[in-house]
Amino acid sequence: MENNKRPESMQRINTPELANAFIDEQIAAIRAQVGDKKVLLALSGGVDSSVCAALLIKAIGKQLVCVHVNHGLLRKGEPEQVIEVFRHQMDANLIYVDAVDRFLDKLVDVTDPEQKRKIIGKEFIEVFAEEAGKQDGIEFLAQGTIYPDILESDGVKAHHNVGGLPPELNFELVEPVKFLYKDEVRVVGKTLGLPDGMVYRQPFPGPGLGVRCVGAITRDRLEAVRESDAILREEFANAGLEGKVWQYFTVVPDFRSTGIRDGKRCWDWPVIIRAVNSIDATSASIEEVPYAVLNKIVNRILAEVKGVNRVLYDLSPKPVATIEYE
Ligand code: XMP
Repeated sequence: MENNKRPESMQRINTPELANAFIDEQIAAIRAQVGDKKVLLALSGGVDSSVCAALLIKAIGKQLVCVHVNHGLLRKGEPEQVIEVFRHQMDANLIYVDAVDRFLDKLVDVTDPEQKRKIIGKEFIEVFAEEAGKQDGIEFLAQGTIYPDILESDGVKAHHNVGGLPPELNFELVEPVKFLYKDEVRVVGKTLGLPDGMVYRQPFPGPGLGVRCVGAITRDRLEAVRESDAILREEFANAGLEGKVWQYFTVVPDFRSTGIRDGKRCWDWPVIIRAVNSIDATSASIEEVPYAVLNKIVNRILAEVKGVNRVLYDLSPKPVATIEYE
């Protein structure tokens, strides 16, 4: 790959001043590269694509066409946040695609984790390519490739594992953050005015909640994952654990157990809480969440999440357990 080595002279971007200098440099470079042509970007709402989008919006405004695909596996509030930040606050050219039914229909009865990932990835490319086909005059494709993506792969970002570069989209690439490490991307994002919730968010897998709704995804169990995850995140934030714990989420496995609710026997799912610390995801240790915090989360999940009658706390480190369940 040409020009995929970070220049040795490049300073580590760790202050707003250095971030501003980088932003100015990239704005000039983007304008020089794309001129008055249009650029397409798949905007997931993750740190990398959001920072890439914000940079491009600053450089070329509405020549950037952002496509946000809601595949139904995003966390509670995520599509709304993308619309609020990019369409309303940054006045971006944002296409929101509600592809929820399309993805969930394809995933019915699919139990194999790799098959689930493949379907999500393939569908994502198809939806994105369809949207691209509706646009006139696109000549460039922007990607939030960052330096670790280049070091770890062949330099082509597998976009959050839900689809690489669509082969039929033969556009020239625009990759303004490709020499940045994650911490630098965050400093640049913060300097560009993106909200903390977007810039400092925890790692989130491309197939999203799909890998946390273990086995064949059903809409009710997926809702249980989404709602319990929202409660967990809210209570971690209330307890000051947000930004301190590396990754935390809930999982709903595909089995039921008996319980008793309002004097009647119920036959419901458990919710499993996972809260881990890690440096690079190759190993992980368990966060010792205070009992009172856990207790509050348990009570809220049991009271507020439909179809759930137990809450479990997974104490297994990686290895042997992986962080995700699939
Ligand atoms: P595991 O489960 O392998 O996860 O211990 C390590 C880290 O990778 C994330 N992860 C994924 N990220 N697509 C992604 O973009 C995926 O398919 C995927 N699977 C796992 C996981 O959240 C953890 O941070």
